[in-house]
Amino acid sequence: MSSKTIALIGGDGIGPEVTHEARLLLEWYGREGGLPLELWDLDLGAERYLKDGTTFPEEVKKKIHDDCAAVFLGALGDPRVPDMAHARDILFGLRFGFDLYANIRPVRALSDDLVPLKGKTKDDVDFVVFRENTEGVYVGVGGQMRRNTPHEVAINEDINTRYGVERIIVAAFEYAKSHGRKKVHMADKSNAMRHAHELWLRVFDEVGKRYPEIERAHVYVDALCLYLVQDPSQFEVIVTNNLFGDIVTDLGAGLQGGLGMACSANVHPADPHRVGLFEPVHGSAPPLAGKNVANPFAALLTVGALLSFLGWPDEERRIEAAVTAALAEKQVTKDLGGSLGTDAAAAWVRRRIAES
Ligand SMILES: NC(=O)c1ccc[n+]([C@@H]2O[C@H](COP(=O)([O-])OP(=O)(O)OC[C@H]3O[C@@H](n4cnc5c(N)ncnc54)[C@H](O)[C@@H]3O)[C@@H](O)[C@H]2O)c1
Repeated sequence: MSSKTIALIGGDGIGPEVTHEARLLLEWYGREGGLPLELWDLDLGAERYLKDGTTFPEEVKKKIHDDCAAVFLGALGDPRVPDMAHARDILFGLRFGFDLYANIRPVRALSDDLVPLKGKTKDDVDFVVFRENTEGVYVGVGGQMRRNTPHEVAINEDINTRYGVERIIVAAFEYAKSHGRKKVHMADKSNAMRHAHELWLRVFDEVGKRYPEIERAHVYVDALCLYLVQDPSQFEVIVTNNLFGDIVTDLGAGLQGGLGMACSANVHPADPHRVGLFEPVHGSAPPLAGKNVANPFAALLTVGALLSFLGWPDEERRIEAAVTAALAEKQVTKDLGGSLGTDAAAAWVRRRIAES
């Protein structure tokens, strides 16, 4: 089997620490786990940007395109770069540059103890969010006028194309079909955003009719937040736009034990050979950086999603089982009530994987 190259970008804040743990796991898979993996470390992030102005060079993008099967990204965001110039170039360079239109974020609680809702267990928290990843308010269309005057105007346009809306909705239904999920919800704000989200409503209805075996339901995003807290078990697959997906999945992370437990994939489902981008949902958490306190499980679970994408779904289950065991045996970081550091919690999981 030809080897698969994975590019690693630690990024900022806690990003390099959790990426280091993810890297050790990938190294183990390459060395002893029988997977033909090559790792390529990229020195990109705020530190590099502040040193020489580099954000996301064209030659790096080309090499990722030509040679890499996947990219692992820790997190981006550094208070020394308040306009996020480097983060925008790197993150959007990957997401938009490779047209990775589906940001897939599983929300699954691996232990009852992690579920913060009264009377709910891990069985109540098991859904997947399909966030549109290339349009919406994140595309940077807009501008400011009369800046720094009392009459300042600031505009961010919300871009929704028929093409973009349809393909993410199709991806959500295809996922439901192939993963035995019976229901897809589409979350929008069509009562207020009558132009853009009427498009979502219409396309959802049209696409949904092609999948008669799957129930489809529309929900306003504000009500979705309410229902997710009241009874998340009613959701299986949720498809929504870029902004709402970003927000709702942090709520989802709250249901599964916090941002230290949430992983994500950025992919182009219409082309299985396209490079995929894998990242923990969390950001760079600057106050935690350099203290060996960040929870590495989101990063390790992200390695699972990455390996599954590369064709080894059993390894995703194996990693998830090891993380579940760490939770059961309280081999966890402080955010989950434990006393281990980032390195020790991750090492425990890696040992468990090696024994399994
Ligand atoms: N994809 C990305 O790279 C990404 C995503 C979100 C935020 N950010 C950036 O990260 C920076 C910080 O943003 P923020 O504070 O809003 O979000 P954050 O995700 O960094 O942190 C939010 C909260 O979760 C906690 N947390 C996050 N990850 C954790 C982990 N692994 N273990 C334990 N606790 C963890 C933090 O301590 C904080 O209380 C900003 O610059 C933001 O723009 C980047």
